[in-house]
Amino acid sequence: MKVSFISPEIKDGQIKSIAILPVFKGAKLSNAYKDYDKLSKKRVSSAAKAGGVDGSAGKSVQIVGPEGTKTNRLLVTGCGKLADFNAEKFGAQVTKTMLMSGETTLIIHLDGHDLTPTDAAQAALGAVLAAYRFDKYRTKLAADKKPSLKTVKIAVENPAQARKAWNNFYGPVGEGTNIARDLVMEPANKLYPTSYAARIKKMETQKETMGLKVQILGEAQMAKLGMGALLGVGQGSPRASQLVIMKWSGGKKGTKPVCLVGKGVTFDTGGISLKPGAGMWDMKGDMGGSAAVVGAMHTIAARKAKANVIGIVGLVENMPDGKAQNPGDIVTSMSGQTIEVQNTDAEGRLVLADALWYAKEKFKPKAMVNLATLTGAIITCLGHEYAGLFSNSDEISDQMQTAADNSSEAVWRLPLNEAYDKLIDSPNADMKNITVPGAGAGSITAGQFLQRFVGDVPWAHLDIAGTAWKASRTDPREPSWATGFGARLMNRWVADNYEG
Ligand code: BES
Ligand code: MN
Ligand code: ZN
Repeated sequence: MKVSFISPEIKDGQIKSIAILPVFKGAKLSNAYKDYDKLSKKRVSSAAKAGGVDGSAGKSVQIVGPEGTKTNRLLVTGCGKLADFNAEKFGAQVTKTMLMSGETTLIIHLDGHDLTPTDAAQAALGAVLAAYRFDKYRTKLAADKKPSLKTVKIAVENPAQARKAWNNFYGPVGEGTNIARDLVMEPANKLYPTSYAARIKKMETQKETMGLKVQILGEAQMAKLGMGALLGVGQGSPRASQLVIMKWSGGKKGTKPVCLVGKGVTFDTGGISLKPGAGMWDMKGDMGGSAAVVGAMHTIAARKAKANVIGIVGLVENMPDGKAQNPGDIVTSMSGQTIEVQNTDAEGRLVLADALWYAKEKFKPKAMVNLATLTGAIITCLGHEYAGLFSNSDEISDQMQTAADNSSEAVWRLPLNEAYDKLIDSPNADMKNITVPGAGAGSITAGQFLQRFVGDVPWAHLDIAGTAWKASRTDPREPSWATGFGARLMNRWVADNYEG
């Protein structure tokens, strides 16, 4: 989707398009509305009246081929009260409505209502998110099932400033989210650890992310570092495990970085503790945490963030095999701590154990956050609306809550404490990777497990098993199965707390 910002004067007929004319409850009509009304000899106002468009949200009329004007269509749409207006959602909603309309250009008139350049940029972000598609493997898609919209133009009083907000922030946010979606959508025969790593490596030479440095560690290097927990998970797969490190050094030289760490299980069969067949195909998305990290690193690099940020993703495939690890196996993690693997399906925490420890030892970060589709239990707990937030620091937790409020990706904090921690003690090793049978709190004990690998670093863990892809999310900004959840949240968290 091409995005541009234009000045408010209507250029009737010069741009073949659908023009969107928002009407707010209790607010004056825009000049664009009045201009079109005049040109069409009151067709706009009479249609609005007949359709009951009084500014109430959800009430709208479409005028196709309005006489007297050269525009293709007008959509006059009620948006509720100006004070409650969410430009991003609006941009998404109208884009969703018009995506297959046959028209190629959409003009959203935000002028005439004292909306800000930021509102305009956010409307464009909504449009870009709503227009997302993953059609690359559909060779027989009929022409009328393909999106027709190619361009969205936002009309606003100060297009130059809106363009600046777009280029410096919201555009890169849209790209990062859609990149995360692309990764989650890919099936596991296309996206596996080495192909995934190669894709990340490409970011080094892409124009948008110029300056980002990417390092890939293979199995031999990880073995040397002692990453027995991560390597144990990938052991049953013919595909080699990878650890990928992305470095963005936009901050002051010498300031400690923040680390974003992602679970990248490119397919989770459960291993020898095999999952049931029904719905197992969703486990191609078990790398959603890593996708959020890659998407966030794209955004951070593309907007040239003045911060030092390291992204680390542990990429493995969890397969049952003669070479796979068995329940009861004991592995030694990079930290030196030993783990009894009672269930090979609790593999994400094993991957993160080594990735987090590596992040802490290698980069001595100011703070670190990990994202993971870690537990089915978080879906029981929070469904598909909130990601679970766990933290050893009230400060980081508060930062995360605020970033969530500012990025419309919701999080809800759950507790960690010593009593939960005890549940993962093992008589055979330093710990086991699942809790005591019947103890419940499966998402919390997974969090306790991770906490054993972060030392004193202020840290947060986001369990995104319910939000990385959708069973029931209906937001127009999330048109595909993969939501890209976490990419914009991480970008926001960095922007709000670690820049400048
Ligand atoms: N990847 C799954 C968690 C998951 C489940 C993500 C459903 C998205 C949707 C994870 O590796 C897993 O299998 N967790 C187990 C842990 C259990 C064995 C302690 C689970 O949640 O059942
Ligand atoms: Mn699993
Ligand atoms: Zn998993």
